[in-house]
Amino acid sequence: MRNGSPRALLPVDAYRSDEWFAAEQGRLFADRWSLVASEDELAGPGDYVTAIAGAAPLVVIRGSDGDLRAFHNICRHRGAVLLSGSGALGRGGTVDCFYHQWRYMMDGSLVVVPQRKEQFPQLDLTEWGLLPAAIATWEGMVFAHPDPASEPLAASLQGITEHLGSYRPGRLHQVVRTQIEARCNWKLFVENHIDVYHLWYLHADSLGDYDHRHFKHRFVGPNWVSYEALKPNRDLEHAALIKGTTPIRHLELADQIGLRAQLIFPNTMIATSSEFWATYVARPVAPDRTVIDLRIRAEPEADCDALEGALRSFIVEDIRACEAIQQAVGSPVFGVGPMAAEHERPIATFHEHILAAVGNQ
Ligand code: FES
Ligand SMILES: [Fe+2]
Repeated sequence: MRNGSPRALLPVDAYRSDEWFAAEQGRLFADRWSLVASEDELAGPGDYVTAIAGAAPLVVIRGSDGDLRAFHNICRHRGAVLLSGSGALGRGGTVDCFYHQWRYMMDGSLVVVPQRKEQFPQLDLTEWGLLPAAIATWEGMVFAHPDPASEPLAASLQGITEHLGSYRPGRLHQVVRTQIEARCNWKLFVENHIDVYHLWYLHADSLGDYDHRHFKHRFVGPNWVSYEALKPNRDLEHAALIKGTTPIRHLELADQIGLRAQLIFPNTMIATSSEFWATYVARPVAPDRTVIDLRIRAEPEADCDALEGALRSFIVEDIRACEAIQQAVGSPVFGVGPMAAEHERPIATFHEHILAAVGNQ
């Protein structure tokens, strides 16, 4: 500790080395629930979404019985990835591997192996269904975990569920789903999300009506929650962060005049206003590349273009700062200096949790 300031704990290599990247994939993301979809995206039987949890490709399918199931998105024959993106299974409602046409049903069971009698005389179909993963839903959002015996999702949401305020995201509809590329390490984007210090400066215009001096925030385990209200002399009109769109009807006053920002450790972020509930997952692609997977929930008649435009412009403001740091991390003189005593303390705490999960490389 210098001058009472918290210190960044992660080494520079955490933002640039392949070894760190691999360690995070293996130790941090492989054993974690991932937000993979909104239930809106899986409305009918045969609808599916794919996702990557660490290095594990997963797929979630709504079955003909209406149930959601998660599987490893890997053919049991030679291991090819089966489905990509999202959509609806073809007319037969089966998952057909393009390579040698092994066929699986929506419940994961293997039903067709071409030339089975001659080429696989001993093969027991019941042993070679898709490998299951774990699935859970919360407030209209769908989460998957590579390990079917993982701890319940609720344990990963500690603090988040208690700090929802009056938000009931499950009552809203997903009105936007888009992705934004960032040329930076995923942790820089998360650190920016929990950095209170930058609100005055980087977002001077976009968040100028909010009272950052009374920004309330805290960690609950590795998760982080926050709330801030409008400045005292601002009226409700200033709370319209996005002009012309429909506000969320079920909010109480504190949430009509406030913003919430939260982190589900390690890389799922939530941001809310009186008009939207947004989640963005910072999905690592390479040490210096991240995809921000943005989903916005709102009233069904909300102006999706206005919402997407506004959220994009906030995120692009933040990405600009993260990319500016990323450009410097290769320099021999790069280093993180003293950090703000309270307003940047969450970054040091986030580092502690990363180190506890990944270990020092
Ligand atoms: S790898 Fe899928 S059928 Fe061969
Ligand atoms: Fe920001």
